[in-house]
Amino acid sequence: MFDKSEKGALIATCLITALFIFSILYAKNSKRIDVPECLPYNKTYEEPKVVKLDTNLYQVYAVAQMWQFQPSQIIIPAGSTVDFFLTSKDVVHGFDIYEKNVNLMAIYGGINKTTVKFNEPGVYKITCHEYCGIGHHNMQAEIIVNYPSSK
Ligand code: CUA
Repeated sequence: MFDKSEKGALIATCLITALFIFSILYAKNSKRIDVPECLPYNKTYEEPKVVKLDTNLYQVYAVAQMWQFQPSQIIIPAGSTVDFFLTSKDVVHGFDIYEKNVNLMAIYGGINKTTVKFNEPGVYKITCHEYCGIGHHNMQAEIIVNYPSSK
């Protein structure tokens, strides 16, 4: 059946795969790093919007297309948790949020999701990091995180 070296290679492959899966789960759970998810495609994701679910809970439907992101400005209070749903209307674009560990690809016919918490007020630039044509370098948006309004 199996040659001895084949068996060795097979075991090594399984171990490396197991280690790889373990590393992702470890990063997700222990380090609380959000691993981007791929969601089933749905037309509603093509409509850019910001949805407020609760006081500090938002959803952003981000749509990339040559050469802009919509919405181009997202305003939220500090302490907000935001679910980003990202898609593209044309070619592959990148979605990189400064100072956040976010690096997604916007793909036509696909949805990528990630969750980010914004504790510090400030302006967080979003830029495209996949070369997408002549306007690539101008493709950006921003997230404005305000101090929480005093009640
Ligand atoms: Cu979009 Cu580069």
